[in-house]
Amino acid sequence: MPDREAGAQSSFLPYGRQEIGDADVKAVVEALVSGWLTTGPRVARFEKAFAQHCGAAEAVAVNSGTAALHAAMRALGLHTGDEVIVPAITFAASANAAVYEGATPVFADVDPDTLLVDPASVRARIGPRTKAIVAVDYAGQPADYDALKDIARGRGIRLIADACHAPGATYKGRAVGTLADISCFSFHPVKHLTTCEGGMSVTEDARMAAQMRRFRNHGIDSDHRAREAAGAYAYDMTELGYNYRLPDVQCALGLAQLTRLNKWVHARQKVAALYDKALTRVPQVTPLKTHHDRTHAYHIYVVKLDPALDRDKVFATLRAKGIGANVHYAPVYLHSYYRARGYGAGLAPMAERAAKHVLTLPMFPAMTADDVTRVVDVLKSL
Ligand SMILES: Cc1ncc(COP(=O)(O)O)c(C=O)c1O
Repeated sequence: MPDREAGAQSSFLPYGRQEIGDADVKAVVEALVSGWLTTGPRVARFEKAFAQHCGAAEAVAVNSGTAALHAAMRALGLHTGDEVIVPAITFAASANAAVYEGATPVFADVDPDTLLVDPASVRARIGPRTKAIVAVDYAGQPADYDALKDIARGRGIRLIADACHAPGATYKGRAVGTLADISCFSFHPVKHLTTCEGGMSVTEDARMAAQMRRFRNHGIDSDHRAREAAGAYAYDMTELGYNYRLPDVQCALGLAQLTRLNKWVHARQKVAALYDKALTRVPQVTPLKTHHDRTHAYHIYVVKLDPALDRDKVFATLRAKGIGANVHYAPVYLHSYYRARGYGAGLAPMAERAAKHVLTLPMFPAMTADDVTRVVDVLKSL
């Protein structure tokens, strides 16, 4: 039986769409009637399966990609006044997670052809208070990890991968999830696999993994299930944590979805190849550049429009024709929250310029060649 697709009833082509199949529904129902609604056996099972999928030692399930980033920031032991370098072009959560821990985001510029963080700009922003760099695998293409590691090495600076766009991608043959001190993933519905809301922090470091498990459970040293198994009631809260737990029911969905992750990544790559080919005939629309030493997981398919085209008009025309174009992203520091804290235009000129001309086209595994033609035909007509 084919996968059920949310929103498939209309001819509207969204920019992203999850697939929920019968196996997912069965797994969720089984979990629902199992008696374990929050932390139960499926949490550890999902963590183990996800860690294995990445080829990493440890994975810690949390209830969003944002929580995964926050847990990573805490595990690195940031203090008020520490600085964290974050690419200007990313979702706000990459920077906000540093702010939650009292640290200051310092925004680095991006390569205008890929929108990946520019290592030269990162190097220029390193200072005595720099404690971490966040590498964002923008759109699904891994950042330049070797260059970022070179910058961090010998300076006590740690590397966090915001890999929310890139499960299944590789960098020089190495899997995303194994490229940084901690790698963070999101299972929001537009991502590669979904748990409705959810996230995962992946690391080789057992100590940091244990710390993140405490952090997601209020900073308490044991969870309810472990105490039940030991016949004990006492617990200790050793630090201030949060309730970032990912329920068993959602882990059941994640486990079922994980079995199709590779298939979905390949399907996304095929859709991207169709776009790449079709867009060679549309000179005003240029796909972002891809690096030959990486494989791309294509969370989103982003193009740059010729500056002579009015991006907002192109966006509106696509929307009027039932095509869910989108924009990812305005530079984070131009949001009111950051402006009110002293950030402002001019910090990352390449990012600011590129952000005015980018457009995200629909991309999801079930897209057909006809869907791609439909999008490209509208672009051609402009
Ligand atoms: C790059 C990036 N980082 C972090 C997040 C946060 O993930 P979540 O929505 O699961 O909290 C997202 C989600 O959109 C993202 O795209």
